[in-house]
Amino acid sequence: MQQARDRRSLAVVLAAGEGTRMKSRRPKVLHEVAGRSMLGHALAAAAALDEIAVVIGAGRDDVAAEARRQRPGAQIFVQEKQLGTAHAVLAARAAFASGVDDIVVLFADTPLVRAETIAALRAALAEGAAVAVLAFEAADPHGYGRILCDSEGRPVAIREEKDASEAERACRLCNAGLMAIAGAKALALLDGIDAANAQKEFYLTDIVARAAAAGLGTRLVVAAEEEVLGVNDRVQLARAEAVAQERLRRAAMLGGATLIAPQTVFLSYDTQIGRDVTIEPGVVIGPGVAIADGATIHAYSHLEGAAVGERATVGPYGRLRPGARLAAEAKVGNFVEIKAADIGVGAKVNHLTYIGDASVGAHSNIGAGVITCNYDGFFKYRTVIGENAFIGSNSALVAPVTIGDGAYVGSGSVVTKNVSADALAVARGRQMEKAGWAESFRRVQKAKKSAK
Ligand code: UD1
Ligand code: CA
Repeated sequence: MQQARDRRSLAVVLAAGEGTRMKSRRPKVLHEVAGRSMLGHALAAAAALDEIAVVIGAGRDDVAAEARRQRPGAQIFVQEKQLGTAHAVLAARAAFASGVDDIVVLFADTPLVRAETIAALRAALAEGAAVAVLAFEAADPHGYGRILCDSEGRPVAIREEKDASEAERACRLCNAGLMAIAGAKALALLDGIDAANAQKEFYLTDIVARAAAAGLGTRLVVAAEEEVLGVNDRVQLARAEAVAQERLRRAAMLGGATLIAPQTVFLSYDTQIGRDVTIEPGVVIGPGVAIADGATIHAYSHLEGAAVGERATVGPYGRLRPGARLAAEAKVGNFVEIKAADIGVGAKVNHLTYIGDASVGAHSNIGAGVITCNYDGFFKYRTVIGENAFIGSNSALVAPVTIGDGAYVGSGSVVTKNVSADALAVARGRQMEKAGWAESFRRVQKAKKSAK
């Protein structure tokens, strides 16, 4: 018998459905779970397969673009009319007509399916089955296709809700929708499916009865209901998000991170978290974030597209935007926003500051309220701050501008010219003093008031 890994494999990802219940301008499969489109999740689950075909609806250029972005080699097929799931698989006929060993059909609106489950479906084919069906025990089977089995527990048919008898509806073993089909048998089985059913659709599920009638092997693979959750509306989208977050938090904690209140921390599909990282309550982490060992993300911080170095700290109420890179032991404090900027080793940006399009050298100190003025309404400019520099509070650094190593900028300066290394720059009105002025002012005013 051939091992599953030696078999040429193709995933057919169905993404042509309308998704009307989302009530959205965006195609359903482009809605996101844990920071990645549902289509992206389906494609990632199928990453181990040799080829991918994505079936999209007519005019869905945005869906095709996302498929190519997530999996550059994906073949795109357009299903002009949504005549059913079997019809959709056949829209990708050219991808398997020349022969593959395993065809795995995935739904792009079922984003939580794991690669291991797809491997289990393929293993059933490697063991000789012509069709392997992914099943689950539904808490509420309403709306799902019911799986009918023979006395040995082999699936012999799938009955859609609308076509099922009262007795069949009582069955709680449901079809998750995903399926693996032996490539050698696929065309003959699929081409014979008709639309003689309540919805006048070509049902992929009919393949089971056809395989059984032809004496071909059929198998069930059973998954947990939460893994095969299908998203049709935004309530189910939120449920899928909750499951995805639960998985990500668990993986982070098992990987050695402390999440003090895990339910309040939101991660992304690609979040990288090292060991001995502490994440306090209320932290939101968007895509593209890596947090190195020993770092602390204090409460209510928001990070996306950012790297946090070893033992660095962020927040509380820190905001790291795309391109923020904190070196080891850097400190970014409360109400500080960092965008497209490198913060050097041990540098401190502790209070109420915006650092954008900049670099801050190692061990520099940025005072409270410092702003890099990086934008003139048309273009962005860089601010370069050397090592061991000290920028006094409430200074504005008008880019492009360079502050040399070891330089000081006096508080409240508006810096428009470069500052040399180890120099002091002060760019504000000089302080003057009039001796006794306040005392005489009060005397004059009081006299005016009593004369009235
Ligand atoms: C399908 C199954 C049902 C199963 C359920 C699990 C069939 C006939 N029924 O029903 O047994 O319990 O999923 O959620 O397969 N699609 C197309 N083109 C089409 C029709 C559908 O691309 O012409 C895509 C949809 O975008 C979606 C998937 O196929 O990703 C499933 O279609 P959907 O209409 O949601 O099937 P269900 O009625 O939910
Ligand atoms: Ca569905």
